[in-house]
Formats: sequence, structure tokens, C-alpha cells
Amino acid sequence: MKTPAIIDCDPGHDDVMAILLGARTMDIKGITTVFGNASLPLTTKNARFTVELADLRHIPIAAGHDRPLLRENNSADDGSRVHGKTGLDGPTIPEPTVPVLEEHAVDFIYRTAKETPNFHLVPVGPLTNIAVAIRRYPDLADYVTAISLMGGSTTFGNVTAAAEFNIWADAEAAHVVFTSGIPIKMLGLNVTRQVNATPKYRKQIREMGSRTAVAVAEMLDFYSERLSRLFGLPGGSMHDPLAVIALTDPDILTFEPMHVAIELAGTHTYGMTVCDYRHRRADTGEPQGAPPNAEVAVAVNAERFWERFLDVLQSYP
Ligand code: BDR
Ligand code: CA
Repeated sequence: MKTPAIIDCDPGHDDVMAILLGARTMDIKGITTVFGNASLPLTTKNARFTVELADLRHIPIAAGHDRPLLRENNSADDGSRVHGKTGLDGPTIPEPTVPVLEEHAVDFIYRTAKETPNFHLVPVGPLTNIAVAIRRYPDLADYVTAISLMGGSTTFGNVTAAAEFNIWADAEAAHVVFTSGIPIKMLGLNVTRQVNATPKYRKQIREMGSRTAVAVAEMLDFYSERLSRLFGLPGGSMHDPLAVIALTDPDILTFEPMHVAIELAGTHTYGMTVCDYRHRRADTGEPQGAPPNAEVAVAVNAERFWERFLDVLQSYP
């Protein structure tokens, strides 16, 4: 049986890849949107465009929060460096017609979690919707088997030297999520930067020739050019779909249990995921420091990711 889940996202090129992968390999109960790579109206528009493009209109979409819990919203400026002014530059994006639910994303998440056995959350944007759902519905934790999220890093950041975009965009929300007690899988830059849409893969995608594949190739061309220019990467990083893979094909990844704290006060490190590698003493094997609150991805088999992703992409019109 496919794992039931909601994808909470801020599309975003790699968010679209997560939706396309998840819609075929999981039982996607809905897509919820949040500010992040662009403003909420744009990320919601891009989610609607994606379900129309790929003939996934049956997946409900609910819009969520348009700003972080506490801080100013600085994310769209930074998001546009990578994703362009629309949040999804590259393909032509017609005005979508598929409706958005009237229900707020937070309420939709709670209702769906309550109705769905073995429910999972896959957040691949700032964690604001998830944090508010946890605070507003204290029993949400009883209905969520696990959260598989893209965010943070065991090493370096991308927005600042220390912080990764999704965590930095609302670190207070990330703190709520990481202290919620819900089992967490964390897919951070330390692994997601190892899976890049190099020209070889983009060519294979374009040659599939379908409407969806051609649009994906156009997205990945734009995104890859930006990430190459900004960070010297060989192609756009497939950050967000790895949060799906963590649930559907966990053997493509290696995880280690760790305590992860979110830095909320650092002068240079706001939004850093402080990952405690010391979890067990080398000599006695005894745990040390705070007990693990996350399974943190530490290695990935990029070739196997691409085999799976390309195979799924073939199935789209
Ligand atoms: C994350 O930030 C966004 O640019 C991507 O969509 C991804 O979720 C990577 O830091
Ligand atoms: Ca994202």
C-alpha cells in the first residue's frame, strides 16, 4: 500500500519535482502551500499549474501561511535568486483554473491527519504551516506517523554560511517542529546537494518528449543555470524530491539518529540546524547529549535516485 501523505510546499522548481514523484509513488491526500521561494499567491499558483500540467487535478490544494511566525518575510527576495521572479521561471505558466480549497492549509492538514491511518507529512518549504498546525491542534502528533522534511544541513548553509533556506525562512517554526516529539526524517543540504540535474539528465528528460517532461526540462534548465552561477554546482539540486524518496525508497539514503536543535539566537547562525554527531560515545557506546529527535540523512545514492525519478516521469502525459 502506498504511504498516505500531504506535501507542504513553496513551488519552486524542486518542489514541483517532489509533487510529480510523490503523486505516483505515494498516496497524496493533498498539497498545501506556504510562502518561501516566492509569495504565497505565486507558490499557490505554481502548485495549481503543476497539477494541471501533469493531469493531477484530483489532488486538492489548500493555501496556508504567507509569512513567518515572528520575523519579517525576507524569503521571496532570496528565493527569486534561485527560482526567478515567478518562483518557477523557465516554462510558460498559463493562469491555472483548478480551484483552491476554501479550508486553510492548517485545518486541512489536521482534518486529513485525523481521517487517515498511517498519515505522513512531507514539508519541503518553510515550516510555518506545520508549526501552526502543531500549536493549534495539540493532538495532531497522535495522528502523524512521521514528518519527512527537506531542510537544514549537517554542514554548511546556502542562504548564510550556517543556514539552509527552509529553516532560515522561519526558524521559530522549525523549532516548534523539531521539539514536537513527532518522528522526523531530515533531508539536508549535506545530501541533497549530491543529487544534481546535470546536462545528461536534463537531456534524457527533454527527449521523453511529453508535455510534462518538456516543461520539467525547461524548469530544470533555468534552475540549474542559477545554481551553477550562484554555487558552482553541476546542475540544479533535487532537494525536495529526496523528502519523498526517504519514505518510498529509504534504502537510497543512509540515516543516523541525532539531536537537532534550531539556532534562534546566534549572531551569525540564525536558522542553523545544530546536529549533534556525538550521539554515542565511541568507547562505551553510551548516548550523550540530548536524545535524538531526528533521523538525519548522511548519505545518498544519486544514481538510484535518478533511475527512480526518470522512470516515474515517463508515466506523465
Ligand atoms: C530549499 O529551498 C528552496 O530553494 C528549495 O525549494 C528547497 O526546498 C533548498 O534550500
Ligand atoms: Ca521547496
